[in-house]
Amino acid sequence: MCGIIGYTGHQSVQPLLIDGLRTLEYRGYDSSGISILSRGKLKTWKAAGKLDSLVGQLPAKPSSGSTGIGHTRWATHGAPTDENAHPHTNNDGAIAVVHNGIIENADALKQSLAPHNIAFASDTDTEVLAHLIALAPGNTLTERVRHTLLKVNGTYGLAVVDANEPGVVVVARNGSPVIIGHGDNEMFVASDMSALARHTREVSHLEDGEMAKLTTKGCEISAIDDRLLHRTGQRSTIIPEEISQQYDRGGYEHYLYREITDQSETVRRTLGGRIDRRFNTAHLGGLNLDARELINLGRIRILGCGSAYYAGGAGADMIESLARIPCSAEPAAEFRYRNPVIERDTLYIVVSQSGETFDTLAATREIKRKGGRVLGIVNGVGSTIAREVDGGIYMHAGPEMSVASTKAYTSMLTCFALLALHLARIRDLSPQRGGALIDALDALPDLIEGALATEEKVITIAEQYHRVNSLFFIGRASACATAHEGAQKLKEISYIHAESYPASELKHGPLALISPETPTVVILPDDDLFEKSFASLAEIKARQGPAIVVTQSTDDRLNTTADAVINVPASDPLLHPIIMGIPLQLFAYHCARLLKRDIDQPRNLAKSVTVE
Ligand code: AGP
Repeated sequence: MCGIIGYTGHQSVQPLLIDGLRTLEYRGYDSSGISILSRGKLKTWKAAGKLDSLVGQLPAKPSSGSTGIGHTRWATHGAPTDENAHPHTNNDGAIAVVHNGIIENADALKQSLAPHNIAFASDTDTEVLAHLIALAPGNTLTERVRHTLLKVNGTYGLAVVDANEPGVVVVARNGSPVIIGHGDNEMFVASDMSALARHTREVSHLEDGEMAKLTTKGCEISAIDDRLLHRTGQRSTIIPEEISQQYDRGGYEHYLYREITDQSETVRRTLGGRIDRRFNTAHLGGLNLDARELINLGRIRILGCGSAYYAGGAGADMIESLARIPCSAEPAAEFRYRNPVIERDTLYIVVSQSGETFDTLAATREIKRKGGRVLGIVNGVGSTIAREVDGGIYMHAGPEMSVASTKAYTSMLTCFALLALHLARIRDLSPQRGGALIDALDALPDLIEGALATEEKVITIAEQYHRVNSLFFIGRASACATAHEGAQKLKEISYIHAESYPASELKHGPLALISPETPTVVILPDDDLFEKSFASLAEIKARQGPAIVVTQSTDDRLNTTADAVINVPASDPLLHPIIMGIPLQLFAYHCARLLKRDIDQPRNLAKSVTVE
């Protein structure tokens, strides 16, 4: 949520900032801006709209400066306008600030500036920081930023430059990611490793409560409240190979399409090295929990937001049905705000593609503060959640650029299938059944290819239904999470209204809305509950509701009852949620394409929600 980038060194900074913002644009895309220090002056350009609006305003010959900061915004305070775009400057334009987060006491801070007759140029919570820094006591920018931040309540990842201190970028972190990139006589900063990967492989993660001064000579990291201990050493790490590799659209019009069609490969990576044929189990070295600890678990609770929460729902079902451990999923924000009881024999699992989602991170910290043990299922290598959990499983799905999650969702489910197998084999799952599940997991990439092969059929269905006002998605038991995720994908990128329900709940209310104008997507796995799910389909058809069925079953009644049937490859029921989700991703994509939506960057959304 909002991307920040900064640089000081010997390169021309303008193209470098724009290049970085291009990589970060998925974090927010309602406006953008840059400030460049050049010959003792600070120049700032900003524009509402996508990054190209900003690029259109820049001088054709790049500004000569080699120190600067940039920002791509997802609005929290103030509409997406030119004025509200970052960087924000003080009245004489000497100080510029880019900020990701929320300044909670912005109004009080503004009032404290009343005697200074300051003309505020925006409606944002950020601008006040630029004025405060300009007026703060201190001989250096670092001192003035520190003095200001000690008055601030809220969250921030920020970068500041000052025309009076050429070659210096001051950065600070409290709750929003700030990653410093080390170069050769040059330093970088960004809110995401992917924006640094083409420049350097050596990075330092700023921790909450820390700030740093970047110059061509390196960086000095200190505590914002310098009464606290300063950090010793750099604690720098190397950007992993999978992030260093440039990830592009692969010739497709949209990242989303590439990410959907890449899934057999990304799942292969998720599975890589984790199948243990010797003991017919999964090898998950990062859990940091041995069998003696896992056998005593009384309960598992899974937390995440949005699609990660839905993946948690499917994961809970996998774990409970296979390992017979009570397991449930809950939205991370709801969990932490109800003052949860943290039980000693409960394992908490947080799920996040980015590893930076504020609510999931806050839940992680709340559990740890109360003495609970937290594992992470995370894609973002080196992300804040990945660094703070006690152990976990990396998805290894590679960077996910489209705002709508597809390949990460599928990899989350694959991680849960591995974890369910691992836990079940510690409990009472036989080696034979474990072996059969390993065969099924081995075949998963091919099964995903088979599910992707439904695309022709899905396109025909999307052509028929993309103009409807509303759809239902239903599924029973393990198919329920798939229904929720199918509706989520459709809403997110096509803007078609969709609602999802457990199939059994339909008759308790929503059935009143079933009509010839309102189609229902029925997730109908070929499992023990087939007849029950079929009964829900029959109830919809009895009310003239069009029905699109996703199934493994070849039962003849489906073709005569449903309006369209999407047949996916048969598999072990454990893997049904993985395979049955794929045609729903394709359905959302093709509806959105036919409606000419902004597929990779849907309105109002951002990839990584780092504010509350
Ligand atoms: C997914 O399509 C959504 N964009 C969104 O719900 C997302 O899953 C959610 O914000 C959680 O993100 P995370 O996985 O990075 O924590």
